[in-house]
Amino acid sequence: MTIRLTVQPAGIEIDVDAGESLLEAAERAGYSWPSVCGRQGVCSTCSVQILEANEPLPVASSAERETLQILPSYQDGDDALRLACQIRPTADLAVRKLGVRPIESND
Ligand code: FES
Repeated sequence: MTIRLTVQPAGIEIDVDAGESLLEAAERAGYSWPSVCGRQGVCSTCSVQILEANEPLPVASSAERETLQILPSYQDGDDALRLACQIRPTADLAVRKLGVRPIESND
């Protein structure tokens, strides 16, 4: 089953395979996504705001929550924030993330 990820405000649509993280799916589809730690879940750079999810997302692990604590808005109670390198969705969802862009090809 393929899951549809929509990235706003750019309106980018990416198919996510079962078991794949948002970041893995975006990279496979040819997009660059802000990240610093190489999907290790420790930098928070890949974080997204969940706008809509057709099913509840898997609960954040304690390690993900610990990394999210870096973000002032999470500390202020924004529990819609998640890490794109850690979320493995089971249904269509939309997120807000700036800086997602097609990787330029030299072909
Ligand atoms: S890429 Fe660093 S926390 Fe996701």
